[in-house]
Amino acid sequence: MKVKTIIFDLDGVIVHTDKFHYLAWEKICEEEGLLFDESINHQLRGVSRRESLDLILKYNQKELKDIKKDELLEKKNNLYKESLNHLTKNDLSNDILDTLLELKKRGYLIAIGSSSKNTKFILEKLEIINLFDAISDGTNISRSKPDPEVFLYISNILNQSNETCLVVEDANAGIEAAKRVKMIAVGIGDSVSEEIADYKIKNISNIIQLLELINNN
Ligand code: BG6
Ligand code: MG
Repeated sequence: MKVKTIIFDLDGVIVHTDKFHYLAWEKICEEEGLLFDESINHQLRGVSRRESLDLILKYNQKELKDIKKDELLEKKNNLYKESLNHLTKNDLSNDILDTLLELKKRGYLIAIGSSSKNTKFILEKLEIINLFDAISDGTNISRSKPDPEVFLYISNILNQSNETCLVVEDANAGIEAAKRVKMIAVGIGDSVSEEIADYKIKNISNIIQLLELINNN
């Protein structure tokens, strides 16, 4: 079956906002006396804000009352949104913009599948929100990756079978979500394990060659 739809994760795939998530959590943890490092951060990729805090607390073997958790979640999001304020279309690399345009030129459907509730705000800042045929994000799902809900929403609204969708992800949780519903899972970046992704690429533009390879077979 030929691939027709390319679903991109947002943070850490389309734009480097994964760094801003990291810095915001680092600040929260510093203030609360909680341990936080790259290894725990990798586990937060693709995971909702609330579940991320739960993972940090579990890692620290600490429990907090819901009211305190809500306070920390709001604080984390405010810190994160402060960094997003400086985002402009210059934060989008040429490699990514050219690839998105080339995919459209070749007749592929392109979509965003992200757990973030800030997705549309970021896409507007980057001035690419209108490029996508569909957007699924933290505002339309009730379960975050590795649950496949975020990707199923895309295949449903675009009326495509899952086997014709290819997902590009920087998170193991996202790779697992795609594979659970038989979408092709392509990993990018250091945090995706070679063993679980169907393919690994170095740059987003490698998607073009990969699609030629898959679709001509
Ligand atoms: C994902 C990020 O894209 O979105 C996670 O990889 C983040 O790190 C999640 O927790 C939720 O984002 P937000 O913007 O709704 O806090
Ligand atoms: Mg990501």
